[in-house]
Amino acid sequence: MGIKISVVILSCLSVVVASAQQKLPYKKIFRQAAAQTSLMLENTERARAADSTLVSPRTLDKGKLKLVASRDWTSGFFPGELWYLYEYTGKKQWKSRAISATTLIEKEKYNAGTHDMGFKMYCSFGNSYRLTNDPHAKEVLMQSARTLATRFNKTAGVIRSWDHNRDKWDYPVIIDNMLNLELLFAATKISGDSSFYKIAVAHANTTMKNHFRPDNSCYHVVDYDTVTGKVIKKTTHQGYSNESAWSRGQAWAVYGFTMCYRFTGDTAYLVQAEKTAGFMLDHVNLPADGVPYWDYNAPLIPNEERDASAAAVLASALYELQGYISIKAYSMAAGKIMESLTTHYRAAAGDAKGFILLHSTGSKAANSEVDVPLVYADYYYLEALLRSKSVKKYTSTSWK
Ligand code: GLY
Repeated sequence: MGIKISVVILSCLSVVVASAQQKLPYKKIFRQAAAQTSLMLENTERARAADSTLVSPRTLDKGKLKLVASRDWTSGFFPGELWYLYEYTGKKQWKSRAISATTLIEKEKYNAGTHDMGFKMYCSFGNSYRLTNDPHAKEVLMQSARTLATRFNKTAGVIRSWDHNRDKWDYPVIIDNMLNLELLFAATKISGDSSFYKIAVAHANTTMKNHFRPDNSCYHVVDYDTVTGKVIKKTTHQGYSNESAWSRGQAWAVYGFTMCYRFTGDTAYLVQAEKTAGFMLDHVNLPADGVPYWDYNAPLIPNEERDASAAAVLASALYELQGYISIKAYSMAAGKIMESLTTHYRAAAGDAKGFILLHSTGSKAANSEVDVPLVYADYYYLEALLRSKSVKKYTSTSWK
């Protein structure tokens, strides 16, 4: 594609990419990731034998492996990792493990109580369908999209994120929700039913209008009045403060709007992705290794925890962005992040119960999952590795 539009002057980005980048040893990294994931499979199976309602690994809690039920927003990432290992190796054993793990969360296709449908079902069944064309995976994706669509409100023009904390918000929409649009776009692509596409576009446009600040960072939670469609307030849940830039939220924005461009060809989304990528990469508080603190405005920087998951999401998004825009700086920044994650943030072989990356932060604001491995960091790290091998190949085998 390679269009030459760029709205961002990546001045300080040179700091991030200045150090000479070595080509990552992909074969070795994938071999090591596969060994860690095999260990995780063993540990997961053992934990499931004690409680079969738990399906997927999420994190370590005081060193103990924490598994979640299929309703948890993270349940699709481990199946997705297994699909990525199958994609890389082409080996049948990864495929059969991926199928087993994916099957365990199928009932979520009817769960209308959350917006996290895309995270759960696209990372698992979406990758399954992309790699195998399995008609059952297609049917599950379609049902999941139908269920997610019930959370769309026409007046506000957005999909409701959470049903909890009803005392705090009327109709909360979080920036993370952008990732769920991939499922809706895919549903239109594979069925020809444009209703899902229209909802996704409405949600992306409303989010673009209301979630961003003049400096191109984004709020975490925007609360809507569904009678008037107007914004009630803009706040945070996982960030340091309402006006701070929660790092993973910024990364979700870059990833989400880049993905929206993939399906729509609307350059407004590309411009938004670039602007927020510029905010992240040019920020004075971004450490030299390219792995952000958990919040760009965390009060005790540099004595704050990092969020490797935000770095992995950003790296994966930047590889896709590079596929659309002829600015090498994006893939160079992604390469620098991946080099840092690979060299300094990976668990030693056989450690961390089989997680690949250490040092992510789930919610420092709630003092929860601080400086721990998180399954979604591993998922986006593997995705970024695959994308780094060949951006064009990856995006062309997605849905476009
Ligand atoms: N989507 C939830 C999170 O990023 O923590």
